[in-house]
Amino acid sequence: MTNEALLKLAYEATEKSYAPYSNFKVGAALLTKEGKVFTGCNVECASFGGTNCAERTAVFKAISEGYHDFVKIAVVSAGEGFTYPCGICRQVLNEFAPEIDIIMDDHGKELVVNLKEMLPYSFGPTDLK
Ligand code: THU
Repeated sequence: MTNEALLKLAYEATEKSYAPYSNFKVGAALLTKEGKVFTGCNVECASFGGTNCAERTAVFKAISEGYHDFVKIAVVSAGEGFTYPCGICRQVLNEFAPEIDIIMDDHGKELVVNLKEMLPYSFGPTDLK
């Protein structure tokens, strides 16, 4: 699947976003090694700590369906500029796919950054072995 096609699915996922507090609608589309795509949106909560980001929604959907190998993830929002994954999402992506490519978009301008670059000197599963 092309980055453009994955970005399109991520934009479609923003339409499902539940963000009544921030009004910041985020969408993600995660491509598995098998070629399956899991989308996700942010889901906010009146008790703010219960909020889940779009990226983690997509990852948790995939894991809960038995998919563990990820190739790339597109992350977009209805806001301005690129939408970079937050620190918690970077850490969760690192748990399952330390070398995943993160695809972002700013009005047709595409940015691809590898997680290794976004989360250097990371702590991960191998540190607990
Ligand atoms: N958000 C995401 O969904 N992904 C990110 O990586 C950045 C932040 C959401 C969480 C919250 O619902 C809103 O954006 C504002 O922080």
